[in-house]
Amino acid sequence: MYLVTGATGSLGRRVVRVLRDRSQPVRGFVRLTSNYGELEERGAEVFIGDLRRDRDIEKATQGVRYVISTHGANARSTNPDEIDYRANIDLIDSAKAAGVEHFVFISVLGADRGYQDSPVFKAKREVEKYLEKSGLNYTILRPSGFASDLIPFAEKFRQTGIYLTLSDLKNRSSTVSTEDLAQIAVTATTLEAAKNKIFPVGGPEILTRDEIPRIFGRIFNREPIIINPPLFLFDSIRTTLGFVNPELQKALGTLRVLLADEFYCTTEEIDTLETTFDIKLERLEDYLRRNLGF
Ligand SMILES: NC(=O)c1ccc[n+]([C@@H]2O[C@H](COP(=O)([O-])OP(=O)(O)OC[C@H]3O[C@@H](n4cnc5c(N)ncnc54)[C@H](OP(=O)(O)O)[C@@H]3O)[C@@H](O)[C@H]2O)c1
Repeated sequence: MYLVTGATGSLGRRVVRVLRDRSQPVRGFVRLTSNYGELEERGAEVFIGDLRRDRDIEKATQGVRYVISTHGANARSTNPDEIDYRANIDLIDSAKAAGVEHFVFISVLGADRGYQDSPVFKAKREVEKYLEKSGLNYTILRPSGFASDLIPFAEKFRQTGIYLTLSDLKNRSSTVSTEDLAQIAVTATTLEAAKNKIFPVGGPEILTRDEIPRIFGRIFNREPIIINPPLFLFDSIRTTLGFVNPELQKALGTLRVLLADEFYCTTEEIDTLETTFDIKLERLEDYLRRNLGF
């Protein structure tokens, strides 16, 4: 039995699809308020609980052989200390007690860079260290940004021709196909070469941020209008917000890191990934065309 946390999220639901396509038994950890209809339709077992409760985590891990942890703080669950950190520590402890054979943890590219301003990056690194010392067999995947997250931006662009970003347009990224990441996460559970290893995971190309609107422009056949306010505007707003809502100011630290820095994999890292997992990673433009039907 596989346990997938965050099974209703962008990545988690794709992990469940891969597992069910491979006819594997899956238990998806979901909240009562989540939209989990697809999991049931695909024949996954639905475990209803809340990752903030360690008793729920303990119950969910019973009879489980593999854990794939894909959950994360989001708009409906905003506290990274509870969700990205504590829930994963509890999950690792429960997995160990339940005799789980392999634990896959979805971290983030750059988790090891020591970003003090980001609660999520800090939580991810602490969980990585805890998992490495846990005695469990593990694979840590550090993905760059997900290609599926760009689909709403592409849809907006299709209507308006506008692409708005606060990032430096020359910053590089290697956006990864969310489906490829799901395949890698599932394969990692039983692959000897992935045991007790950390892999940066990105798409096959290194793209500067201004290439994204150009890709949109090619797909929809219209000239992009790029709006690129300077990052100090974001910083000013964040500082002002801090006077009324210090928690929000802290939470925005993760977005600040994502806007200000580069998140890409080297050619060697991509070669290692493709060879180890026997996968041909999809280019961003191909991913978007396939998902947008163009
Ligand atoms: N998106 C990216 O570009 C990116 C890049 C690098 C790393 N990552 C990491 O990759 C992982 C997957 O990201 P994603 O974009 O797929 O995340 P997502 O779409 O935001 O999904 C988060 C999932 O966690 C669940 N969750 C949150 N709080 C919960 C709670 N208290 N109890 C039970 N479930 C809870 C959510 O359930 P609900 O449906 O109920 O809200 C949802 O299924 C995350 O760990 C993220 O940090 C993401």
